[in-house]
Amino acid sequence: MTERELRILLNDMSLEEKVGQMVQLPGQNYGSFAAVTGKAEKKEDGQPILDQAGSTLGIYGAEKLKKIQKAYMEKQPHHIPLMFMLDVIHGYETAFQCPLGMGASFDPELVKKCAEIAAKEAAAGGIHVTFSPMADLARDARWGRVMESTGEDPWLNGKMAAAMVEGFQGENRKQTGKVSSCVKHFAAYGAATAGLDYTNVELSEHTLREYYLKAYQEGIHAGCDMVMTSFNTWNGVPSTGNPWLMKEVLRKEMGFDGIVISDWGAVGEMVNHGFCEDRKEAAERALKAGVDIDMCSDCYADYLVDLVREGVIDEKEIDEAVYRILLLKNELGLFENPYKDADEQREKELFLCEGHRRTAREMVQKSAVLLKNEEDGKAGKLLPLNPAEKIAFIGPYIEGEDMRSSWVVTGSAKNSVSICQAAKEAFRDDQICFAKGCTLLDNDTLLNGSEYHSDSWEEDNDRLLCEAIQTAKQADVVVLCLGEQNHQSGEATSRTHLTLPKIQRTLLSEISKVNPRIVTVIFSGRPLELSEVETHSKAMLEVWMPGTEGGHGIMDLLTGVCSPSGKLTMSFPYTVGQEPMSYSQLTSGRPCPKGSKAPFLTRYLDCSTAPLYPFGYGLSYTDFSISEPTLDRTEMQAGETIVASVTVANGGKRTGCEVVQLYIQDVAASCVRPVKELKGFRRVELAPGEAQRVTFSISEEMLRFHRGDGSFGSEPGKFRLWIGNSSEDGEAREFFLY
Ligand code: NOJ
Repeated sequence: MTERELRILLNDMSLEEKVGQMVQLPGQNYGSFAAVTGKAEKKEDGQPILDQAGSTLGIYGAEKLKKIQKAYMEKQPHHIPLMFMLDVIHGYETAFQCPLGMGASFDPELVKKCAEIAAKEAAAGGIHVTFSPMADLARDARWGRVMESTGEDPWLNGKMAAAMVEGFQGENRKQTGKVSSCVKHFAAYGAATAGLDYTNVELSEHTLREYYLKAYQEGIHAGCDMVMTSFNTWNGVPSTGNPWLMKEVLRKEMGFDGIVISDWGAVGEMVNHGFCEDRKEAAERALKAGVDIDMCSDCYADYLVDLVREGVIDEKEIDEAVYRILLLKNELGLFENPYKDADEQREKELFLCEGHRRTAREMVQKSAVLLKNEEDGKAGKLLPLNPAEKIAFIGPYIEGEDMRSSWVVTGSAKNSVSICQAAKEAFRDDQICFAKGCTLLDNDTLLNGSEYHSDSWEEDNDRLLCEAIQTAKQADVVVLCLGEQNHQSGEATSRTHLTLPKIQRTLLSEISKVNPRIVTVIFSGRPLELSEVETHSKAMLEVWMPGTEGGHGIMDLLTGVCSPSGKLTMSFPYTVGQEPMSYSQLTSGRPCPKGSKAPFLTRYLDCSTAPLYPFGYGLSYTDFSISEPTLDRTEMQAGETIVASVTVANGGKRTGCEVVQLYIQDVAASCVRPVKELKGFRRVELAPGEAQRVTFSISEEMLRFHRGDGSFGSEPGKFRLWIGNSSEDGEAREFFLY
């Protein structure tokens, strides 16, 4: 349709019909099973909103959605198609590594490829819009949704958000295999106080702008079609009712001209927040704040028409929102083809096809982080595994457990490759043995929406432990697969302890008594407290929630088919008391030099201020060295650049990949700046004996920040830079901006 035709259509619509476009109903209303993340009331048959709501979410599948679309369009007065939205967070049928893990790959190209595949599969399944990427900055591991983020760094998150948007959307949404992307949750949802999901956020405007808004901005620059509001309040105002945030910041300053959608029920929740007296006021405030679509609270459906008729809301505001919605439907090509790519044949061809699985496996290989790999006295390091030794795979994660996160609502866990299966493919039967060891959870563990309980839990675990001890005794080396259950991270999974379940820690310590040669593989959707695990393990591999090809990718790493190259994108604390934490802290007035015992310094008495494993950290099977950086000049002005370079060399015996990281510090500024900030990285693959020069160009733009007076710019003076293999590595160099 041309713009003119869209305007004509809009002018011909009744007020009720226009408001309908701004209403999103849960998928259950279309007679189908649907993924829910909030209260989902089913409408009575015959209620007009059922025939008029402009979009729905949580349902999928080509055959089903085509039927729903056909029936809907027959009833919709202007035959405007329904838009189908879904949380395609890290894959559709082929589940990829969870976003926190994808971040650890430091490979935006690969992240983009995963998004492209997810879009292809989802589009074949009838989906038009995905609620991804989540661009929230995540610095508190107590917040379960860190799993859906790419971590604690604004710059890295921005690169990853942009890669995902580009992968999902491509250049043209009409193309087969493309879907619209919705950046969320605007704004600062990741800063929930004490990591408690849905609670308020306390941040200065400076912190909000300088650190929290950056990644959303990158997603918007990449052209995302939608932005979702966040559940939290900021400055005491829920985002969904904050006109400053949505109209001033998002639309005017950030230049976003797409659709703003509320999060699930968030319009109505403004009553619970105590921000609105009733749902009618909530509808008014959300609309006036700039929310175009009300996801599942029914406030728009129930009150917008009346609010216009009463003169409280100007119909022009409704028209603007509806026009944006029609425009997106048009950009998706729905007026010409309301089914878009929904196609049963394409579903069969694409879902879990070899190419998609291959990419999923590659992502597991590149995102797993080798945390520890000690000499064990016998034959060097424990990893990669020595095929001449007998290997026991033990632990609740070796079989059957879902390696996908709680955020893969489509597909089946049965399609995931388990550790057992992958081990059987990689080794002869006489080389390996297995034991489950314990249940994944302690008895009576509360999960989001359910509680794990087993009447025979104690007897089962006694038996499992005995079997595991016997198995460990027979083997030369134990690979212990432990971790969080996949519903222990994700939405509404805040925790005050970051340890593994007690029953798993017992298994680890009991096994270590009979066989101390332990490689621990950790599955988690968040940083965990791993000191105890470290004490009992000679090697540790963090594999996150690795997805469909988890078993294969992990086995490739354990056996040395490839070398680990993932780097942490969130600091792993010694203890939960250090949370929230980030390598990129502001400089304190009383910094504590490493090892100092002097009084009155910035420190904890009972724990290091440093993390157990820092941001950017991750080992390899080979030995990389990075030379001290050289700078082509040490002074620059705006418009000039400084080129910093290092030589990366592989002095080990295996091919591997190092992630070379550039960090910069603004030494003194009108606003205190972080001790260091990531400003560049490169994945460098080197064969044994090979070396490569790696250069980074530093420009004045990279040194800009939000200043106290509200302006954005750089300030002349001294800067430091480091180039290394983690946020704690590298020799500082200085340069000056004039
Ligand atoms: C609530 C979640 O916060 C959001 O991330 C998700 O996209 C919506 N529900 C829709 O499922």
